Amino acid sequence: MSQRIKIKALLESEQTNIEVTVKGWVRTFRNNQFIALNDGSTNNNIQVVVDFENTDPNLLKRLTTGAAISVVGQLVASLGKGQKVEVKAKEIEILGDSDPEKYPLQPKKHSLEFLREIAHLRFRTNTFGAIFRVRNSLSFAVHTFFQERGFVYLHTPIITASDAEGAGETFHVTNFDLANPPKIENGEIDFKQDFFGRATNLTVSGQLEGELGAMALSDIYTFGPTFRAENSNTTRHLAEFWMIEPEMAFYDLEDNMNLAEELLKYLIAYVLKHNAEDIEFLTQRLAEEEKQKPQQERSDMTLLEKLQFCLDNDFQRLTYTEAINILIESAPNKKKKFQYPVEGWGTDLQSEHERYLVEKHFKKPVILTDYPKAIKAFYMRQNEPDANGHETVRAMDILFPGIGEMVGGSQREERLEKLEQRMDEMGIPKDELWWYLDTRRFGACPHAGFGLGFERMVQFVTGMGNIRDVIPFPRFPKNAEF
Ligand code: 4AD
Ligand code: MG
Repeated sequence: MSQRIKIKALLESEQTNIEVTVKGWVRTFRNNQFIALNDGSTNNNIQVVVDFENTDPNLLKRLTTGAAISVVGQLVASLGKGQKVEVKAKEIEILGDSDPEKYPLQPKKHSLEFLREIAHLRFRTNTFGAIFRVRNSLSFAVHTFFQERGFVYLHTPIITASDAEGAGETFHVTNFDLANPPKIENGEIDFKQDFFGRATNLTVSGQLEGELGAMALSDIYTFGPTFRAENSNTTRHLAEFWMIEPEMAFYDLEDNMNLAEELLKYLIAYVLKHNAEDIEFLTQRLAEEEKQKPQQERSDMTLLEKLQFCLDNDFQRLTYTEAINILIESAPNKKKKFQYPVEGWGTDLQSEHERYLVEKHFKKPVILTDYPKAIKAFYMRQNEPDANGHETVRAMDILFPGIGEMVGGSQREERLEKLEQRMDEMGIPKDELWWYLDTRRFGACPHAGFGLGFERMVQFVTGMGNIRDVIPFPRFPKNAEF
């Protein structure tokens, strides 16, 4: 028997009139004659033509949507339109039946909400096939980008005892019998007796450990899962998401921004080159979704145009202070259209403000720098106060249309005294982070890094509105199904 060929290769085959074996799942079976078969290698199906007059009627009945089959047949030029080649079946074997009465995926349009409830099957739809092939390409491209530039892929721990961002949004990791944990005299839980001999949690960021690596290897990156117990039920937040965190010795904030912009453009270009069919499909999908919206809410660019636009334009760079001034003077602020009015310097930006800057004011990706020290993490490098006495840090956030914050990063505070002082002010335990502070004691140097939220990038590139649709099995408040 000839070897199985994947459908993508079959459809691209220059040769015809050869015997082939193809395996996949039935998408549809029409007129007792035409099987649309898909194996996930491409969004396109191969048409298998069945000689129904000479085929066992019992087998024909079992050719139902969702069934797994193996076909041996002749690859021939197709007479039908829409495909170059098709397979004339000689032998069909049912590998796995799919009861059409019970199979939840019908050959029709299902809502994304419904498909989320059957996330174990949604890979079998065109939309999710395309999304997860694009996600795969993007993650591969992350590695090629950094490997081409001599970065070392560093595996930082998933279980840690620190809260890198200091936001207190960690998931605890414990082996205790939760109904009856050992306690010390004052009634507090005695973590000394726990598995690790201390309280531990799932990591919110690999940055602190990443910095340790960069202080020897120069340029490192992490790419792994991170966990946040923030109770955010939004289309941009997950409790478990993947983050890419490069950390570079001898980089300042400007170098950091340049690298981040280069990375984002590289990722987009990579997918445009390697996933052209999937992007075309997703562009079509988004266009149809947009048609359901009222005219003034529709985007004036297609997905493909948005991606190309990002590649062709420099990101707009400005300081937080400049952004606040734009926002204070903006029409929606003056007309009290913002839910959170922008009154003055120092407040954190809400997503409505970020979206205004990116989508209305600049109409392109924006990099905001030098945020108020009070709203950022302890490890960011402190600027000298400005003429107004405003205290800022060398932070940068990259904001994207439709997404908001895509990247968060900073130049790090490498001066031991300044860092310790900030940790004291913010109540970050210095004794627990002795190893982090050691990098400032021995051979400290200017360095910088950032974190790219991988799912937000996949969202942007695929045009999907909800982050829960770009990770195979999303984790969010009150949901850990599958
Ligand atoms: O801005 P964040 O919190 O930065 C850090 O964690 C730094 N340690 C990064 C660094 O400098 N090495 O998170 C970085 C990015 C955000 O910009 C966002 O894209 C994404 O991670 N992100 C989330 N994505 C999905 N769900 C969530 N709950 C997210 N929280 C942050
Ligand atoms: Mg951030």
